[in-house]
Amino acid sequence: MGGPRELLQVYRFVLAVLLGLVIYFLVVGFELLREGPVPGIGLTDLKGSGWLGYRLGYAGALMLVIAQSYLFRPGLLSKLTWLEIHCYLTTAAGVLLLLHAGFPYSFEYWNPFERVYPRLGLYGLVGLQGLAAWLVVALIASGIFGRYVYGRHRWARTFKRWHTVHAILSGMLYVSGVVHLLLSVSLKYVAAD
Ligand code: HEM
Ligand code: HEM
Repeated sequence: MGGPRELLQVYRFVLAVLLGLVIYFLVVGFELLREGPVPGIGLTDLKGSGWLGYRLGYAGALMLVIAQSYLFRPGLLSKLTWLEIHCYLTTAAGVLLLLHAGFPYSFEYWNPFERVYPRLGLYGLVGLQGLAAWLVVALIASGIFGRYVYGRHRWARTFKRWHTVHAILSGMLYVSGVVHLLLSVSLKYVAAD
């Protein structure tokens, strides 16, 4: 068994692979961005299946992906600058993604597991999009706490535990996000109400 450092490296590698898949789906989904606006856009069009909603999801996911550069921290900027970029960009991305998911006026997934039916195979996993939306909320709340304890000596142990939780929540978001993108972008599957 490897130590915690090796485990972290492996975990980051897995995150990087999942991130690669998200980028792949964004490339595939780019085609739909070329479609013109549908006349008479109403409020509900902010949701994923609407013209504007699709763009909100697309932009939000792109911002999330850029914000994850923090994982690899290219040497161009200082560690703290990357962290600030990570925090602000993910928070802004979160707002777009939550509008895309229907928050707060017509969100259909208050119970994040209600519409998940693994027995039905891949299409039964469509409800994971609701879980993904809740994970965005959880990650932003978690991030704000983590940013507060970051670099404070008295909180060093808490920070370590927090870091693991934040990384696991991210992994869960990546997995549910990849399933959502596979269904909605590649297979063009829309959940029935
Ligand atoms: C973390 C990122 C994302 C989350 C949390 C998320 C969440 C959701 C949710 C909850 C819905 C259902 C809305 C409803 O009740 O109608 C939805 C629908 C949709 N999303 Fe996303 N989304 C994300 C990213 C994306 C991206 C990047 C795209 C496209 C490139 C996308 C495309 C769609 C499409 C086409 C629908 C309509 C399909 C359906 O209603 O089942 N989503 N999304
Ligand atoms: C959807 C939203 C978010 C996702 C997917 C996400 C993801 C991640 C990931 C993958 C890491 C690196 C874990 C590792 O080192 O392996 C991380 C670290 C971190 N994130 Fe986030 N994050 C999100 C939101 C936020 C927000 C909003 C903040 C701040 C307000 C934040 C603050 C931090 C901090 C303080 C660290 C640790 C920095 C370090 O150890 O050097 N995150 N995040």
